[in-house]
Amino acid sequence: MSQHPNGIPAHGGHLINRMATPAERKEFMDKAESWPRIELDKRALSDLVMIAIGGFSPLNGFMEAADYETVVTDMHLQNGLPWSIPVTLSVSEEVADSIKEGSWVRLDSPDGKFAGILELTQKYRYNKAHEAINVYRTEEEKHPGVKVLYDAGQINLAGPVWLLERHPHPLFPKYQIDPAESRKLFQEKGWKTVVGFQTRNPIHRAHEYIQKCALEVVDGLFLHPLVGATKSDDIPADVRMRCYEIMLEKYFPQDRVIMAINPSAMRYAGPREAIFHALVRKNYGCTHFIVGRDHAGVGDYYGTYDAQHIFDEFEPGELDITPMKFEHAFYCTRTLGMATSKTSPSSKEERIHLSGTKVREMLRRGELPPPEFSRPEVAAELAKAMKISS
Ligand code: ADX
Repeated sequence: MSQHPNGIPAHGGHLINRMATPAERKEFMDKAESWPRIELDKRALSDLVMIAIGGFSPLNGFMEAADYETVVTDMHLQNGLPWSIPVTLSVSEEVADSIKEGSWVRLDSPDGKFAGILELTQKYRYNKAHEAINVYRTEEEKHPGVKVLYDAGQINLAGPVWLLERHPHPLFPKYQIDPAESRKLFQEKGWKTVVGFQTRNPIHRAHEYIQKCALEVVDGLFLHPLVGATKSDDIPADVRMRCYEIMLEKYFPQDRVIMAINPSAMRYAGPREAIFHALVRKNYGCTHFIVGRDHAGVGDYYGTYDAQHIFDEFEPGELDITPMKFEHAFYCTRTLGMATSKTSPSSKEERIHLSGTKVREMLRRGELPPPEFSRPEVAAELAKAMKISS
């Protein structure tokens, strides 16, 4: 274990750390006044943070053209490691023209604060339709991931980055647990196997069911709700986190679960994003990763189990994290509990299907999710947040 004191190796062998040291920070602060400046949007800022804390290991910056191209077409980096989502910094031609390759660039947060540094090694034009078709499997602009892509600038700026400072999250400081720390926590708890759970929705009973099925098999559960940019009709992160706190207090064994925030932005890339989500959780120290129905999907763009099938496109051991695949879970009125078609013989009429989309639709109509859908305490919290009288 000497090589990996904190559990399983990160993707690519070691956890990347692109936090500026105190000496680098001082140097950057002194020099950056004269450097060209780019204001990052919310997603680019969260990508910068994820690179810096090692969540996107082995990436140490925004992707150069060669990596970008093989990631888009073949889901691998140039060095042969699997990687399924481009991590790029796109700017307008005008901005790109104003900065020379080889320059150092000051990266500001959306509110204009000095956030990081880019050593600009390369600028390149990219083909949006090609990226859309390969990564999102559609060119339709009503797909929220494709829309972000089509709204972005024409030129990618690439090169290694540094994050100036890791600020506590303004809303969830106690859940800001970065990969180096989560790995340490898993070790301290003596967990040899840990399953990661990605979510962007308020917890419902199907989530709870698959989390607990997984917990029957592995040592610990790493609940990792995504709190970066999501589409506007998703439930806000603070509401989702409160629902999770309520659940953890009453319905989960405290010593077998760690909850932390995932600062990334959602891409809604379905299957491709499931691979990406799994690799990110491997970097946080997970050995397993839950992939249920239509993982990271949106609308009808992906088949129910496409995000599971895509794992078979990789060689055994290549991803080095084990997907735990779950069928569509429902509440079964015959067996009076959660089930899937693998465990219940019930007819269609006896199955109450739930999903984040359905919960959101009910809340929008002013209805509360029933107990077969959500635990009552969670329904009450959602009602409060959406100002529905229960
Ligand atoms: S996601 O965009 O982050 O995937 P969501 O928060 O709803 O959306 O899902 C979190 C995880 O739970 C995903 O792996 C998803 O596939 C799984 N999941 C959600 N609902 C169900 C369900 N009814 N049955 C099985 N898996 C589900």
